[in-house]
Formats: sequence, C-alpha cells, structure tokens
Amino acid sequence: MPVISAPQAFNEEDLYVDLRSLCAHPLFLKCEGFNFSGSIKLKAANAMVEAAERDGVLTPESILVESSSGNLGVALSMIAASKGYRFLCVTDPRCNLTTRLLMKALGSQVHLVSGGESGSGYLGARLDFIRDLCARDERCVWLSQYTNPANWQAHYARTAPAIAQEFPDLDVLFVGAGTTGTLMGCARWFREAERPVRIVAVDSVGSVSFGGPPGRRMIPGLGMSVRPPLLDESLVDEAVRVEEAETIRTCHRLARRGFLFGGSTGTVVSGAMDWLERHRAEDLTAVAIAPDLGERYLDTVYQANWVEGLYGSGALDEDEEADPGYRAPGTGGTPGAGEPAPPRSFLGQ
Ligand SMILES: Cc1ncc(COP(=O)(O)O)c(C=O)c1O
Repeated sequence: MPVISAPQAFNEEDLYVDLRSLCAHPLFLKCEGFNFSGSIKLKAANAMVEAAERDGVLTPESILVESSSGNLGVALSMIAASKGYRFLCVTDPRCNLTTRLLMKALGSQVHLVSGGESGSGYLGARLDFIRDLCARDERCVWLSQYTNPANWQAHYARTAPAIAQEFPDLDVLFVGAGTTGTLMGCARWFREAERPVRIVAVDSVGSVSFGGPPGRRMIPGLGMSVRPPLLDESLVDEAVRVEEAETIRTCHRLARRGFLFGGSTGTVVSGAMDWLERHRAEDLTAVAIAPDLGERYLDTVYQANWVEGLYGSGALDEDEEADPGYRAPGTGGTPGAGEPAPPRSFLGQ
C-alpha cells in the first residue's frame, strides 16, 4: 500500500492497455497518466528540480520559470507547491483552459504569449519571454526542458527499465516526440543495454523535429517548431508522422472502448498501428507510450465543434464499419490477432 507525504512520490509505472481490440497486431499501451500531475511529465519535472537542487541553483528565494504546453507546467506547479517554490509557467493559447486553471489552483502564475512577438511561432515567443525575464530578475531559475539532460535522464532511469522488465522480449517501442526527453531516455537505455529493440519516434505532421516542413499543429504535447536540442537521431531507428485529423479519430476510437486518452496518445497509437500494419508485424511484441489521459482535452479533441472547425465536418464521420477492430457490445470473442509475448505480469512472474 503506497502511503505518501509528497504528491510527486507516487507514480503508476506498471499499467498497460492491451490494444488488440483496436489493432490487428499485438500492441500494449503503457499508461503514464496515473499520478497526481496526470502525465508522464512528472518524471522529467521531478528530475530537473532535483538536479537544480543538487547543483545549488534553487534556493528558497528562487522563482522557477518554464515554457510548457501544459503538462510539464502542471507537474512543476505540483512540485513547486509541495516544496515551497514559486513557479511561473509561460505558455501559449494552445494550452487548454483546464490545464491553465489547474496550474493556478496549485498556486502558480501563468503567462500566455500571443506568438505575434516572435518570428519563430509560439515556442519562440515563449522562449524570448523567459530569456527576457531571466535577464531582468536574477531570482528566476529556468529549468529549460528542451535542453536539460535531466529531462531524458528521468526516462533512462525509470521509463525504459520499467518497460524492459515487463516486456523482456520487446521488439518495437513507439515513443511520441516533443522535447524528445522520453524518446532519448528510452532509446539510450535500450541501446546501452544492447537490447535489439527498434525505437520508432512518432511525431505530428507540421513538426520540424525530423526534418518535415513546418505546419499548423493544434494538439499540444508532440512536435516542435524548431529542431529539438536533445534529439540524437542516431539513436532512433525510424520516425513516423501522423496527421492531426488521424490523431483525433484514434482518440475517439479509444474512447468508444472506454479509454479516454490525451491527444498525443492518439498520435502515438495511430502511428504505431500504421507502422505495424505496414511491417505485417503479427509476431512482434510492441509497446507504445501514452503520456496522459483525456479529461484535459474535453473542450478540444473530444469536442465536436472544435474538431469540425479545425479539421472539417467529416473529421468525426468514421463509422464503425471502418473500424476493423470494433466489436459491437455483446458480440463477445477475443478481438485482434497474433500471439505476442505478453508482459511478465501476465505470466505471474
Ligand atoms: C501530452 C504529452 N505528450 C507527449 C509529450 C512529449 O514528451 P517529451 O517532451 O518527453 O518528448 C508531452 C510533453 O510535454 C506531453 O505533454
């Protein structure tokens, strides 16, 4: 029975959803949304704050500042509240209202940039604002998730070994790429452990992380408008890109099964299913990482007006017949195909 006295002390590390009801191939989804901050960013936030404390950079007078599309901001708000630091989150209009309210409820300040003040999009505007702030106030401590090695080290220390322990015969790992902290931590761990695991990065169309042309992206979490400084492409076997409309459809397909995940999970699952289909990978054991849950996206990904306004009136028209894995209630049977190597816990080990 976990009993904690600080919110960051708890994180569910061993929960997977078997996606064979959705996908004709063995695919297990590692759920990272079950902690008090509601996302995978808790691990990076914790590691970056602890590193700054170890380095003597953080003092009781410090003001933590960070650029975040939401989830890191919530995680840092929680840790800052728990440890007694002040925190200012610099974000942009794509950060949804619930997330902004969550940060404020935890006692943080939230600053929204408009994006117009920089030629490099919202991210450029957020970073310009922070640089300016740090230059004017020496109490400001910028953790800089885009460059901070503690970001990827958190996943090297925790996320990758947890997956490897549950899936000793893992063949493919699908990881969404934002700052690429999760991707780099996992990729480095599997490379150094000399495990023959294929690392597939999943990115959004419109992101420039892996060299694609820039374009509009409305779903926070994945993708970058500049090349991610943490990214070492030599550790990534392949990168796939997913259209946001497809992300939305996949989120809704998961929701029809009762699994309400965040937008980036729709991207990762869609990219993974497509990859597995193209590689006819019935015999491979695959894991994808789900960074958060869906409640924060009720007014965007799960809101028909928002979806149709951005992606067209047909965006949600997919009928059940177009969903090969769908089983109408009461029709029974074990959906999906293939015999994957199950996680260790299935085997009672
Ligand atoms: C919902 C969501 N998905 C995915 C990611 C990407 O994770 P990373 O920054 O480790 O690449 C983030 C990061 O903020 C996120 O908030």
